[in-house]
Amino acid sequence: MHIFHIVGARPNFMKVAPVLNALRARQNVVQNIVQTLIHTGQHYDVNMSDVFFQQLSIPAPDVNLAVGSGSHAKQTAEIMIRLEPVVLERQPDIALVYGDVNSTVATALVCAKLGVQVGHVEAGLRSFDRTMPEEINRLVTDQLADLLFTPSEDGDENLRKEGISPDKIFRVGNVMIDSLVRLLPAAQAAKTDGLPERYALVTLHRPANVDDNARLKGILESLLEVNRDLAVVFPAHPRTRKRIDDFGLNAGQLRLLDPLPYVDFLGLQSRATVVITDSGGIQEETTYLGMPCLTVRENTERPITVSMGTNVLVGHDREKLRAELARVLAGKAKKGTVPPLWDGHAGERIADILVTRFLGAQKDAPPRHLNPCASLL
Ligand code: UD1
Repeated sequence: MHIFHIVGARPNFMKVAPVLNALRARQNVVQNIVQTLIHTGQHYDVNMSDVFFQQLSIPAPDVNLAVGSGSHAKQTAEIMIRLEPVVLERQPDIALVYGDVNSTVATALVCAKLGVQVGHVEAGLRSFDRTMPEEINRLVTDQLADLLFTPSEDGDENLRKEGISPDKIFRVGNVMIDSLVRLLPAAQAAKTDGLPERYALVTLHRPANVDDNARLKGILESLLEVNRDLAVVFPAHPRTRKRIDDFGLNAGQLRLLDPLPYVDFLGLQSRATVVITDSGGIQEETTYLGMPCLTVRENTERPITVSMGTNVLVGHDREKLRAELARVLAGKAKKGTVPPLWDGHAGERIADILVTRFLGAQKDAPPRHLNPCASLL
């Protein structure tokens, strides 16, 4: 069984690590598991990529496509062009793709057209907001995938409603939580020199929030207001930092930091008073940690963090942010519980499904040859 793992952007790295590890552990008992790790190079800064590989103990990629930044079309197309020959040369049995980034959808398109099976880790999530590039990536990837690994019941339901056959859907839990569970002790032991005892941890990078001058200005003004009651610690995504500079906006007394390594960020998250974010993964991590999370978005593709967890959608309503922050500061933050199967073992479930499916099914299969001209037929 030859498995490709394709990753490209920061939120992919904590998702691939547990699956790689679980398959590596099974290599000792099951013969014929070959893994190839491909980095598309969508994220290329040391602090957006390399440091995550080190902290998560991910081996160096076998292939780096080094695509870099670009418009959505350019980045997606460049990944497709550079990935296709690698798939043709190495002939994997399945390509595993993670999350909802451009690297995910680009890989799904290439592999589906070459007749290589696609497994989507974190399938079925829907914000029902097609202005988000990630929603387009999710919809297309899930239509093309052969195996859909979902983190929660709502994911299964969304897929069934879109006509995906139930025998392709596997609810395995949340791989991101696997990495969190493994590295939380190290994160809690990490030093926090120079940080206030109580603080609001902030991350923002959604195009809808940071690419629009007026919207970003309004959010920064809200955060400056928060900062009067509670210090704001804000590790800024390169996109956000660039927009603040381009628009000439004032971040005033906010503690703006560079993007942080995984363990350091997790440490900050676990000790924060409240997290204010527009990230998808952080809504899940705060729910696991029982940490109050105020999400600066009108919708979420992770509704279970609202229905079961600690997440509250404050959208772009300044009053709502104020009111929710006051609740947190009064010790009355929303309480939550951890969703089923967010238990640190999702990667192992995926590995077991793959081993059973491929090593059973492939025994008598004829040799496979991918057809580079499939798209012309
Ligand atoms: C991408 C994902 C998003 C994910 C986010 C996490 C898509 C469509 N979006 O958004 O789902 O939540 O990653 O970070 O795939 N840049 C750097 N250095 C880097 C990477 C990016 O400076 O290492 C800058 C570049 O100016 C680039 C911009 O950030 O143009 C945006 O990067 P890109 O990967 O296109 O999208 P993200 O906003 O990071």
